[in-house]
Amino acid sequence: MAEIERTYAKVKKVGGLAGIVAADSAICTVGIEGRGLSYRGYSIEDLAASSSFEEVAWLLLRGNLPSPAELEDYRARLRELRRLPPALAGMLDSIPPGDTMMGILRTGVSLLGNLEPERQGEAPYEVADRLVAVLPSILLHRRGKKLPLEEQSLAGYLLHGLRGSAPPEELRRCVDVSLILYAEHEFNASTFAARVIISTLSDAHSAVAGAIGALAGPLHGGANEEAMRLIESYADPREAEAGVRDRLERKEKIMGFGHRIYTVSDPRSGVIKDWAARLADTEEHRRMFAVAERIEKVMWDEKKLFPNLDFYSAIAYRFCGIPTELYTPVFVLARISGWMAHIMEQRANNKLIRPISRYTGPGPREYVPLVKEERT
Ligand code: COA
Repeated sequence: MAEIERTYAKVKKVGGLAGIVAADSAICTVGIEGRGLSYRGYSIEDLAASSSFEEVAWLLLRGNLPSPAELEDYRARLRELRRLPPALAGMLDSIPPGDTMMGILRTGVSLLGNLEPERQGEAPYEVADRLVAVLPSILLHRRGKKLPLEEQSLAGYLLHGLRGSAPPEELRRCVDVSLILYAEHEFNASTFAARVIISTLSDAHSAVAGAIGALAGPLHGGANEEAMRLIESYADPREAEAGVRDRLERKEKIMGFGHRIYTVSDPRSGVIKDWAARLADTEEHRRMFAVAERIEKVMWDEKKLFPNLDFYSAIAYRFCGIPTELYTPVFVLARISGWMAHIMEQRANNKLIRPISRYTGPGPREYVPLVKEERT
C-alpha cells in the first residue's frame, strides 16, 4: 500500500500520466535528447526534406524503408485499395447531414469492420494498408467529390479530389510533407487509446474508431481547426496582439501552442511554417501569415510557449485550399499509419493495459432498499 501511495504521489503531482513510461516501443522517439523526433531511427527533418508519405507509412508499418521496387508496388497496392465498397458508400450516404467529418471517419472505420472484419491469421498488413488507402476515399465521398483514383500519392489524391482538378506540384508537396509530420508521435492520447483497446485482444477497426474519437478533441488533433479560427478572427497583427493578450488575461488557452513533451520547440513546427511562408503568395495570405507570426511572438513573450505542429499547419492547409473543418480529418489520414504500427506492436507483445485508481469516494455505507418488497 505504501509503495502504491509513493508511486501515486509522483503521478498526481503532474497529472495526466505525464512522464510515465507505459511500455517499450520501437517506433518513434519524441523529444529524446540528441534524437529529437524520429521514426524508426530516421530524423523527422530528413524524412520531411526528402521522403514521401507512402515511404513513411511503409517505414512505420514494416520497420524499414522500402526499396524503390517495394515503394512502387506499395503505391500501386494503395491505389487499388482506395475503392469504396458500394455497401459502405451507401451506408455513409444514409448518415444524416450535420455530423462532423471526424464522426464520419469514425463511423466509416467501424462500418468497414462489419463489412470486412479482420480474419484470424490474416496477413498482418491487410487492415493497415486498407485503412491508409480508403480513409481519404471516405472523406472525399462524403464531401460529394469524384474519386480521382488515378492519382499516384495520397496528397495528390486528396487535393485533386477536393479541388476537382489536378493540383500544382507545390501544393502536393506541402500536403505530402504535412502528412509525414502528422504520421506518428509515440504515446499521444489517440495512439494510447488504440493500444488500450487492442490490448484487450479486440479488433483493429474498434481500436482505430476509438483513436479517431480521442483525436477529435481540441486538446489533441482538434487544435489545428481552432488555431485557424483564431488566426482568421483578427484583421491584422495589431488586433491579434491585443486579442491574444486579452485571452491570456482571461486565462484562455490558445490552441496550437504548448506541448506535453517538448519544452523548447516542436521540431515539426519550423518545417510546416517554412511551407506556409513559401505558399503565402497573395496579399491575403501574407496578412494571415503576419497575424500568425504576431500571435507566435506574443505567446513567447507572455508565456514562453511555442507553436506546435497544429498552429502553422492551419495556415499551410488554408493556403493549399483545404477547408478548415477538414484539418483534423486530414490528420487522421496521416496518423492512421502510426496507429496501425502501434496496434501491430502491441499485439506482437501483448499485455492487457489495466492500471488502478486510488479510491476517493465515500466509505462503506449501508444499502437501504427504496421499496420493501413483501415476501410471500
Ligand atoms: N495557451 C495558454 N496557456 C497554456 C497553453 C496554451 N496553449 N498550453 C499550456 N498553457 C499553460 C496552462 O494554462 C498552464 O498554466 P498554469 O500552470 O498557469 O495553469 C500551463 O501552461 C501548463 O498547461 P497544461 O495544460 O497543464 O499542460 P499539459 O502538459 O497538460 O498541456 C497541452 C499540453 C498540449 C494539452 C496544452 O499545451 C494545450 O492545451 N495546448 C493547446 C491545445 C493544443 O495545441 N493541442 C495540440 C497539442 S500537439
